[in-house]
Amino acid sequence: MDWGMKNRLSRIIKPKDGRTVMLAVDHGYFMGPTSGLEHLDGMVNPLLPYTDTLMLTRGALRNYISPTVDVPIVLRVSGGTSIIGPKLLHEGTVVSIEDAIRLNASGVAYSILVGAEFERDTILGMTQYIDEAERYGIPVLAVTAVGKEMKRDARYMSLASRIAAELGAHIVKTYYIPGFEKVIESCPVPVVIAGGKKQPEDEALQMAYDAIHAGAIGVDMGRNIFQSSNPVNMIKAVNAIVHKNATPKEAFEVFKGTKK
Ligand code: R5P
Repeated sequence: MDWGMKNRLSRIIKPKDGRTVMLAVDHGYFMGPTSGLEHLDGMVNPLLPYTDTLMLTRGALRNYISPTVDVPIVLRVSGGTSIIGPKLLHEGTVVSIEDAIRLNASGVAYSILVGAEFERDTILGMTQYIDEAERYGIPVLAVTAVGKEMKRDARYMSLASRIAAELGAHIVKTYYIPGFEKVIESCPVPVVIAGGKKQPEDEALQMAYDAIHAGAIGVDMGRNIFQSSNPVNMIKAVNAIVHKNATPKEAFEVFKGTKK
């Protein structure tokens, strides 16, 4: 692995503990003005002091985030479908590698849909992007998207995560499920979890804790932070779990503001 690739990876995954709190606010690429992100800058700016890496689209980056901000970017580079369209998750490349470089991305994110009708298109889209990104030393985060008809279990998540890693992804993002250790054991690259739909804060914190203790190196969490009743305290609480080994109970106190 060359110096540039290693350097970008160490911007995304903090070398002090090998972990990361990635804030995912890329939802607009297929969900439009997602609840909580209507004014993306107003939501994100107060969260940045507790964010290791910001994951978003190029349009959100250019329109809502100041270029003077000191936060590594993981740029979403797959898309092309919407929640109201007939072919959700049949994604392709939506950003060139040149534009990712122009935006000074530390990494790029590409979704694959293993086991669904369009798996081949999405997987080949990702591998082509990996070839281009490797040329410039840019890590690719594979997002293992899950179709509605697919079972969210350890067997499926292990399969999708391992395929992504075997095909060259440098980081895998997947969903937390019971038996998550199986996903970690069989995936040779770092794994982060998505947050998924909004849950009560104590349950989301428990999930983050369980994922980290099963071996995930961090979270790439969105709705459970920006749709929380207190997004700043929620990201502080997630940060305490990821970087300070806080228990779910301690982290919930951070969320409630009763513990620093
Ligand atoms: C989905 O493919 C998007 O990349 C989201 O960023 C991702 O699902 C993480 O967000 P959330 O924690 O809201 O699930």
